[in-house]
Amino acid sequence: MARILNFGSLNLDQVYRVDAFVQPGETKSSLSLETHCGGKGLNQSVAAARAGAEVWHAGQIGCDGDMLYEKLQENGVNLTLLERNSGVSGHAIIQVDNNGQNCILLFGGTNQALTEDYIDRAMEAFGNEGLVLVQNETNLVGTIIEKAHARGLQVAINAAPMDEKVFTYPLEMIDWLIVNEIEGAAIAKCELEVDILPKLKKLYPKMNVLLTLGKRGAICVRGDEQARSGIYPVKVVDTTAAGDTFLGYFLSEALDQKSLSDALALATAASSMCVQVMGAADSVPMRADVLAAIEEGNLGKLGEWGGWR
Ligand code: RIB
Repeated sequence: MARILNFGSLNLDQVYRVDAFVQPGETKSSLSLETHCGGKGLNQSVAAARAGAEVWHAGQIGCDGDMLYEKLQENGVNLTLLERNSGVSGHAIIQVDNNGQNCILLFGGTNQALTEDYIDRAMEAFGNEGLVLVQNETNLVGTIIEKAHARGLQVAINAAPMDEKVFTYPLEMIDWLIVNEIEGAAIAKCELEVDILPKLKKLYPKMNVLLTLGKRGAICVRGDEQARSGIYPVKVVDTTAAGDTFLGYFLSEALDQKSLSDALALATAASSMCVQVMGAADSVPMRADVLAAIEEGNLGKLGEWGGWR
């Protein structure tokens, strides 16, 4: 079974439905407002746990974070390490339009309050077997990578949201890089998508990569093994957390000695189910439902991988 220690962001997502995103200088009314549990870290913990992995979530919530704690708890995530401080939790203002696309404004809150001492204590408690997962929504990401690598733990980074800080992280210590095409091109320092994987291989020979390409599917490489997949033709209601669902399911399978093709197949089905439901963590499907949907053909015919742009 995959064993994951996620130093993951936790956000209260304030989700506004809009007919079109608000433009600079514009004031507009939204159609609805809902508050959901989110944060790339929390969503990924929920997804990996629902996929069947043993997940420990490390991070901080503020005085308003009860629902974040409860969401992880009800999904069987180990919360021994989660701490609460007197600040406010991270939050996200999310607009979702009629096509199910989103745009997201983040406030870091307690996600930015990790300390070196806390990281050491968390790793000590987790032990030296398994994988440490980070996203780019907390502080001290580079330190976490270094410390995990020094302990012999595998390390995975979801380099999202992409910004300059990513270039300061010791990416040569990363075992799994999980990125979309924009993040991948920035890290590989190339313009053409087709160059992303060869350039990453050259820069970081030992790095395994999962590259997601939105509606065109995904492609992944682990050593000499490579696999690619298209997507299912489902109706999109809200894409929030689709990437997190993909990542959680994929890592859980890939770390459990499954082939990349099998890992991609399950992750693709899970994220296709996620986009049919509003919200973040709550839209991550359960493993049994994903398997049933594949078996019963409820998601339609899996499309071909969409190729490079
Ligand atoms: O990936 C989706 C997530 O990004 C949202 O839940 C939001 O909180 C932001 O972190």
